[in-house]
Amino acid sequence: MQTEILTPEIKTKADKIVANYEQRRAALLPVLHLVQESYGFISEKAEMEVAAYIGIPPVDIKEEITFYTLYRSKPCAKHEFNVCRTLSCSLRGQEEIVAHLENKLGIKVGERTTDGQFALNEVECLGACEMAPMMQLGHEYIGLLTKEKIDQILKTYGDGSFCESGDGSFWDRP
Ligand code: FES
Repeated sequence: MQTEILTPEIKTKADKIVANYEQRRAALLPVLHLVQESYGFISEKAEMEVAAYIGIPPVDIKEEITFYTLYRSKPCAKHEFNVCRTLSCSLRGQEEIVAHLENKLGIKVGERTTDGQFALNEVECLGACEMAPMMQLGHEYIGLLTKEKIDQILKTYGDGSFCESGDGSFWDRP
């Protein structure tokens, strides 16, 4: 079968992943990661090709992608705000933080700005509850969020300095 998403290079990598497992299906999640790393997201075409490659129904792929927030079914924005919505963060003002981001970015949760620069998502506990309310932005965990801190982050992004340095300067612990 001719495949567009699973190029020979990607297939070679996928074959190596599959070889690590007794059951082909057990390689599904890492193969999906491979596709996402290659394209930035998992398109419907990719879902079909991976399903055929692994040998499972496409609906099984859809279930995995919609269950795990790590997988994206749409092209990602340059900067993704992933705000934790689980209990500790929720109790410490996550809703207010999300509302402020929605207001500042002009988008709702699950959307991205028309210029593709920013996206806003809510995610489950990121394992940094002591920093609540917190979010992940790129590779950074940013905690003890306040509206003022959000404004500072957005301002810094305007300068482009934060994403270039990625120095974790907003990483705060109590
Ligand atoms: S509840 Fe938000 S990081 Fe755990």
